[in-house]
Amino acid sequence: MIDLRSDTVTRPTPAMRAAMAAAEVGDDVYGEDPTVNALEEAAAARFGREAALLCPSGVMCNQLWLRLLARPGTEVVVEADSHVVNYEGGAGALLGGVQFRMLAGRRGLLDPDAVAGAIRSGFPLTPTSLVWVEQTHNRGGGTYYTVDHLAALRRVTADAGLPLYMDGARVFNAAVAEGVDVAAYGRLVDGLMFCVSKGLSAPIGSLMVGDADAIAEAREWRHRYGGGMRQAGVIAAAGLVALEQMVDRLAEDHAHARVLAQAAAEVAPDHVDLDQVVTNIVFVDDVDAARVIDALRAEGVLAGPMDPRTVRLVTHPDVSADDCRRAADALRRVLSAL
Ligand SMILES: Cc1ncc(COP(=O)(O)O)c(C=O)c1O
Repeated sequence: MIDLRSDTVTRPTPAMRAAMAAAEVGDDVYGEDPTVNALEEAAAARFGREAALLCPSGVMCNQLWLRLLARPGTEVVVEADSHVVNYEGGAGALLGGVQFRMLAGRRGLLDPDAVAGAIRSGFPLTPTSLVWVEQTHNRGGGTYYTVDHLAALRRVTADAGLPLYMDGARVFNAAVAEGVDVAAYGRLVDGLMFCVSKGLSAPIGSLMVGDADAIAEAREWRHRYGGGMRQAGVIAAAGLVALEQMVDRLAEDHAHARVLAQAAAEVAPDHVDLDQVVTNIVFVDDVDAARVIDALRAEGVLAGPMDPRTVRLVTHPDVSADDCRRAADALRRVLSAL
């Protein structure tokens, strides 16, 4: 089967497995795991920031940052289709004690003027404490904030004296697509997280990146939330390989997504927005998603539903150029039979 349901299905590369087997380890709750320390230093340096913290998941990073940057009883301005709103089990309300002020974005991206208009203060209004962006935007179809767009949001938050946070689960896809260094995004936000476990192929791990004092506080909260890990160097070793070997090749995944999107557009132009396909995600819109997914499965291709009318296909390192051509042929056949 050619698995295009998500880039989370990637398996560790042979280089990762070798690095994991050979990893030097120690007790990371004591701060003594040299491989974890090396990954955290590499992550911070990559984003031009002071410090980083390895967590088991992206959700944990998001929730820890929410805890750090947004006071309970306040409001977080966020795009309505964001991961933190839709896929984190209500943790923002439960653990963070915040409410979300959800704005409709354009393909998931927030308009700086709309954000400025949504910021509130003065009791008994619920005050805004944080502005949240997602890079790339998953439910937006892998769209991303350019450095200029992010800088405009930064000006809005700075004027209001508010922090800006980036859920950068796929931030490297954005940087590769825009052709910039991730540090260009890193220096515009107060905190961010990124995952090594998605298109970068590591089996486990996400990193919080920011100022040293914030990361020190996050380390305490990670422990409270049960995220303190012991010989986590076996995980970190794969994360280091991810950063060293798997970033530049994301361009291949983006090219593969274009191949899929163009195949779909050839036979069903009204169901694919080619302008939206800028990284590794393709949406087929306005179809009976269950029917299309079943038909693709019969052709040996796995796709996922975004909602009952939208099919999502995600390219990643475990899908070769040849797999992609075969999937594109299957997509042509299935969509032309609609
Ligand atoms: C945008 C975004 N943020 C956060 C996460 C959460 O990451 P994890 O699955 O590692 O908890 C995901 C996962 O798919 C995501 O797409």
